[in-house]
Amino acid sequence: MKLYLAPMEGITNHIYRRAWHRHFGPADRYFAPFLTNIGLNHKELADLLPENNKGMELVPQILTNRPEIFLELAETLRSLGYTEVNLNLGCPSGTVTAKGRGSGFLRDPRALDEFLEKIFARCPLRISVKTRIGYADEAEWPPLWELLSRYPFSERIIHPRLRSDFYRGPVRIESFAHAYRSAQTQIAAAAGIPASPPYAPASPPAPSGIARPSACPCYNGDIFTHADFQAITTRFPALPAVMLGRGLITNPGLARELRGQPPMKAAQLRGFLEELEAGYRAVMSGDKNVLYRLMEVWSYLSNSFDEPEKIRRRIRKAANLAEYEQIIKELLP
Ligand SMILES: Cc1cc2nc3c(=O)[nH]c(=O)nc-3n(C[C@H](O)[C@H](O)[C@H](O)COP(=O)(O)O)c2cc1C
Repeated sequence: MKLYLAPMEGITNHIYRRAWHRHFGPADRYFAPFLTNIGLNHKELADLLPENNKGMELVPQILTNRPEIFLELAETLRSLGYTEVNLNLGCPSGTVTAKGRGSGFLRDPRALDEFLEKIFARCPLRISVKTRIGYADEAEWPPLWELLSRYPFSERIIHPRLRSDFYRGPVRIESFAHAYRSAQTQIAAAAGIPASPPYAPASPPAPSGIARPSACPCYNGDIFTHADFQAITTRFPALPAVMLGRGLITNPGLARELRGQPPMKAAQLRGFLEELEAGYRAVMSGDKNVLYRLMEVWSYLSNSFDEPEKIRRRIRKAANLAEYEQIIKELLP
């Protein structure tokens, strides 16, 4: 079972990824937060430069509904050495969906189909996708899944929520189960075997360079504990990979725990946090900016401690990094 680090805008940038990789990694793959515009800005370029991502298999992500933007960005990514790009069909933010991008693109399957046809015809890189299961109604999913299954995505990662769910409420596991079952049937048919779930996708060989459209989808959503992970992998035994987002920011040792290693120790977390702070100090001016970034991480990480709200309040009140460091010293003696 592969474990992926989710893209999280404002959190899982190269500074976070590098510190996490050294102290708690590796993940099998790392996904970078989305790009939207042609011509990478300084921050985006720094995030993707191979020298800032040494030793990690990183997949950049694009959020657009315009084929020409996708293709031009893909070309830029190719020139940086990337061989795969991920398409974002999940972002629920109002400013994004209002423009028909992210999960907003799921509202217009015809336009999505045309877009996919154009990018698959010319993209120099493999294309994977990270998608929600619809915009406002679970009934949207079976035809959307059918549409996504017609294109040779190298990987299809599903966060089984609607746009209207944002990140709230239980995941809609039956929609994930629909995609899983349909992929199992396709895999079995391609191998000439009658479908008898659970049929493990023993990776039938793909023609070189061509992805298998029938490959089993990857799961993403609400994995915070070993028990959450077990529930998913027991129900879907042929899952090739699970992507971890908020659960891993809350408990940076989660991936190791899922691989059977002991929970993280205070000293490990301290080392990680010191490297994170140093990483931000190196690229940002002013304590306030660095504190803001660290606070984003702590908004999740605090939930691994007793009295998380109290911790968040204390860190929010820190006037400078010296005060922040004192708080960390007390929390992680
Ligand atoms: C603050 C934040 C930023 C995110 N940024 C991205 C992003 O850039 N691209 C993307 O595909 N998903 C993004 N996501 C969604 C996550 O990758 C993931 O799909 C979601 O959090 C559900 O997984 P989880 O329950 O493991 O966190 C973001 C989520 C959050 C909370």
